[in-house]
Amino acid sequence: MTTSARLFQSSAPCIAPSILSADFSKLGAEIDEVLRAGADLLHLDVMDGHFVPNISFGPPIIASVRKSHPTVFLDAHLMISDPLRYAPAMVKAGADNVTFHVEAVTDPVAAAKEIRKLGCHVGITLNPATPVEMILPVLEHVDVVLVMSVVPGFSGQKFMSQVLGKCETIKKRLRADQRLEIDGGIKVDNIQSAQQAGVDWFVVASAIFDQPDRPAVVRTLRERLGLAVK
Ligand code: DX5
Ligand code: ZN
Repeated sequence: MTTSARLFQSSAPCIAPSILSADFSKLGAEIDEVLRAGADLLHLDVMDGHFVPNISFGPPIIASVRKSHPTVFLDAHLMISDPLRYAPAMVKAGADNVTFHVEAVTDPVAAAKEIRKLGCHVGITLNPATPVEMILPVLEHVDVVLVMSVVPGFSGQKFMSQVLGKCETIKKRLRADQRLEIDGGIKVDNIQSAQQAGVDWFVVASAIFDQPDRPAVVRTLRERLGLAVK
């Protein structure tokens, strides 16, 4: 079974390290370390300095990660003002899933359909201040729903527990082949509260990469989710 098929066919919870907090001068080694410890996929935060007040990286870095890690599932989170313009380049670079912000497009259903035509999985996400009603009409058209639990732009912010209600509302409406993801402020102490709200994929940047022993954090996160520890 391909990684992609496994992630959407099995309902097992998944740890998705975000490389935003990694040391880019040794990115390959840092990715190896978290994957060996039991990370299930990689979350790639693309920022344009316009939709969010920060600039991160784009297709060249995604292509490098794809080249060095040919089979890992790459989950691209586009925090950019014009996701439809750049989605093809993300997929060409190797993204397996492309998630766009509902706040960034005028017709989210059409955007989801257009991204799906690129041959990748498609996700939708919403900022903490955006009402959940904004994405309900889009749910049937996506594979992944990402609930932001911080204001997007930076790693290392505090988890906003008030979004857990949104998670519960969305989870009830998802099919068995769709995944609910959470992003922002997730760490050992709060990952179970997100799991209880129905989350399947857990994005974690600073709680892993800001620690000296990243494998130990990944293993503890897995333990908290009731997963086997590698
Ligand atoms: C925030 C990004 C997140 C971020 C998470 O704008 O979308 O993926 O890297 O970082 P932590 O886990 O440190 O909150
Ligand atoms: Zn993200």
